[in-house]
Amino acid sequence: MNWDEIRSYYPAVESCTYLNTAAGGAMCRQAAEEAKAYYDEMTAVGDRKWSEWLERTEETRRHTAALLNATPEEIAFLSNTSAGLNVVADLLADDGEVLTLAEEYPSVCLPWLRRKQPVRFLPIQADGGIDIDDIDRAAGANTRIVAISHVQYCTGFRCDLVELGTLCRDRGWRLVVDATQSFGTIPIDVRTSQVDALIFSGYKWVTAGYGIASVFVRKEVLEEMGLPAVGWRSAKKPYALINDRLDLTTEARGLELGHPTFPGIFAQRGALRVLEEIGLERIEARIDELTDYLLERMDERGITLLSPRQRGRRAGITMLGVPDPVETTRGLKKKNVSVSARGRGIRVALHFYNNHDDVDRLAEALQ
Ligand SMILES: Cc1ncc(COP(=O)(O)O)c(C=O)c1O
Repeated sequence: MNWDEIRSYYPAVESCTYLNTAAGGAMCRQAAEEAKAYYDEMTAVGDRKWSEWLERTEETRRHTAALLNATPEEIAFLSNTSAGLNVVADLLADDGEVLTLAEEYPSVCLPWLRRKQPVRFLPIQADGGIDIDDIDRAAGANTRIVAISHVQYCTGFRCDLVELGTLCRDRGWRLVVDATQSFGTIPIDVRTSQVDALIFSGYKWVTAGYGIASVFVRKEVLEEMGLPAVGWRSAKKPYALINDRLDLTTEARGLELGHPTFPGIFAQRGALRVLEEIGLERIEARIDELTDYLLERMDERGITLLSPRQRGRRAGITMLGVPDPVETTRGLKKKNVSVSARGRGIRVALHFYNNHDDVDRLAEALQ
């Protein structure tokens, strides 16, 4: 793989030592070109490209589905993950309990609390992770749903979705996954992991910029529960514009309600092409290798690791313990190194477009 050439698709990583993909990814040049092309077209010819834009939307849906081993009918495009998680909370509304992790991202928990569903927070282990048995032990008699980030935003812990999916299936629980910190870094298969719903934003590891989130909902769930909210595009035949009776689709695109978020969808199309060209297995291996190198350099300096150390239990996020995370982040910024302060440490994110020099520059700047 020519990683230097691939790196050149992401100009932002040349302007500084960019270790902040967990906050917002460097945007892929090809993604920006797709979004710009749409604005140019609409400026030049107004709405006359509508059918073409719809075709491009469906193409993006097919590619997004293929990367998850889902079907296009199970994919909807919304503007952000939080919107997607609310849609899923409405879809699965129940009086049962939701099990999640302590330190989970707020948008994974708040939609359930707003709907007055009890939420049980499972304490995490010292390395920020949990074992699947912890989930089983923590569950109550009334647990119905496990809602979890595939990779935790604050510790980098990656849960094993296949193991978790098997447990949920055995216990009869629904599994809802926020893959915002994982999609684009590791392969995900919604079939083998038996996920009911999975959502991710495009502006981090997908490198597609803001304004696009993808929502997977398993076909059987959509058929069983029906759409929780509707608009003209939720109809089986949207262009019939029927307004006096419900004839609703059971495809996930019905969750989009109205006109598609074209610029974000097209940007995702451009970004996914690059992910497909490299391959998610190769991306995972690259991130693992760069992270191993980061851990080596940090160990040399005696910097405390606040994330899981083993491969398989982590993805692109590494938390490093420092005495004053906010001040350290400011100091690193002055040295042109971009990271985020989170909790007790600084969050370092390594994507495939980073390289060993980026890690060396961080190590020197921390020194
Ligand atoms: C796990 C996780 N989910 C969701 C989000 C953001 O969601 P949204 O796209 O709604 O802003 C973040 C942002 O840091 C995140 O880490």
